[in-house]
Amino acid sequence: MANQEIERRRTFAIVAHPDAGKTSLTEKFLLFGGQIQVAGAVKSNKIKKTATSDWMDIEKQRGISVTTSVMEFDYKDYKVNILDTPGHQDFAEDTYRTLTAVDSVIIVVDGAKGVETQTRKLMEVCRMRNTPVIIFVNKMDREAKDPFDLMDELEEELVIQVRPLTWPIESGPRFKGVYNLYEHNLNLFQPSKQVVTEKVEVDIHTEELDNRIGRDLADRLRGELELIEGVYPDFDVDSYLKGEVAPVFFGSALNNFGVEELLNTFVEIAPSPRPVKAEERTVMPDEPKFTGFIFKITANIDPNHRSCIAFCKVCSGKFSRNVPYYHVRHDKTLRFSSPTQFMAQRKTTVDEAWAGDIIGLPDNGTFKIGDTLTEGEHLHFRGLPSFSPEMFKYIENADPMKQKQLAKGIDQLMDEGVAQLFVNQFNGRKIIGTVGQLQFEVIQYRLEHEYNARCRWEPVSLYKACWIESDDPAELDAFKKRKYQYMAKDREGRDVFLADSGYVLQMAQMDFKHIKFHFTSEF
Ligand code: G4P
Repeated sequence: MANQEIERRRTFAIVAHPDAGKTSLTEKFLLFGGQIQVAGAVKSNKIKKTATSDWMDIEKQRGISVTTSVMEFDYKDYKVNILDTPGHQDFAEDTYRTLTAVDSVIIVVDGAKGVETQTRKLMEVCRMRNTPVIIFVNKMDREAKDPFDLMDELEEELVIQVRPLTWPIESGPRFKGVYNLYEHNLNLFQPSKQVVTEKVEVDIHTEELDNRIGRDLADRLRGELELIEGVYPDFDVDSYLKGEVAPVFFGSALNNFGVEELLNTFVEIAPSPRPVKAEERTVMPDEPKFTGFIFKITANIDPNHRSCIAFCKVCSGKFSRNVPYYHVRHDKTLRFSSPTQFMAQRKTTVDEAWAGDIIGLPDNGTFKIGDTLTEGEHLHFRGLPSFSPEMFKYIENADPMKQKQLAKGIDQLMDEGVAQLFVNQFNGRKIIGTVGQLQFEVIQYRLEHEYNARCRWEPVSLYKACWIESDDPAELDAFKKRKYQYMAKDREGRDVFLADSGYVLQMAQMDFKHIKFHFTSEF
């Protein structure tokens, strides 16, 4: 029973550069899962570009996304858990963390734009963790790049071998549909948001194909399919599961085209919950005892409920409501009377959850990203890297009477993973590092409204924060002395070098050959 429950679970995230079609694809999956009845029911959680940078608006808009952070549904014999990720790139860090809780990923690429910056970076995170990846090339109803060029681009830019499993016949107004190389059938395109288009079994060597799509296109398709079979090795599920090969599908999420094939193949080949590495040992999903870790904490948008929701990924065993569990960092036992699971638009209290599931735990500052829950074992799950931030500012107290509130607020917001804090060892000033301007506004707003504290930002010109380490203590010491004005500590007390330019960083790397400069905190 336990094994069956775990094996039928598919926990994954759909990731994309903003606007590639992540929301549209998620919505179509929910339609197939019977979670919603009509298209258009799921609101995009992306922050409208027009709402420049007013945090109030963001909060309102994100209000929708809080309950939809995880969406689960049954499809065929499978239980599908989709983890939503914020669309706005200023919250990219949130997305990276979510990727630590999934067992596989679907990447959506816009057929006209190809690989974009965000996609590249997200793929980097997948590669670091060998996460299996499926690629969906979207918007084929619009003029798209040549599919062979796209294959090359995906392979080069995402640094992964690709293997088409469907193949498009033209694109834009001439788009005829896709040929399924796996099932050997033709799926003819018919623009529609609601209807799933008909599929026809055709032997591509017969005239039937000519009748369906015209002689010229039929000949071209035959040639292209031959080329594909010649160029790409047969699709091998094991290589996909190891994160070495990414199968590619073509379609149009908006028109619900090519989505069913994608979903069917996905549930069939995507991994069930995978083993998770803790510092002490590797935890297998089918172990009888419950273990889990917190990968995301979301502030409650409802002003009457100031508590947060901590998202816990169940790594092994079965989680039960009202059973005492061990909070490793606090060395204390907690029980949860109202853990929640998430449907498309609602939250429900759950009595039990299995490895692979995500549960929401009400949180009043008990949790920190990366915290581990067990049935008593001292385990520490790892693999929640922090990337070097891209923007830095000094944070200063703007209300001398509220020093304590400010310190507490900063502390808790950092626990939630809103941004990163470094303390400069030279002048003792606190520096906040973020991926985007919006995060500074979020911090300021939340400090004021949740902690009754006021902060002020002051500029600091920095290029990158790098975690440093060395096997040569003398050289490390010499480096720290030379760069004493630029040395800081992160919240775990690790040494961080704050480089003020790319040139300075390069020189430092050349002068100090025995020092390793890391751009993520996981090494
Ligand atoms: P995102 O979550 O990745 O940011 O993308 P989202 O699904 O919100 O899609 C971004 C835009 O692209 C939307 O248009 C959406 O309708 C459109 N889109 C998604 N899939 C397809 C497709 O297969 N074909 C075409 N032609 N368009 C597609 P919008 O104008 O920004 O929003 P809306 O007014 O349509 O909601």
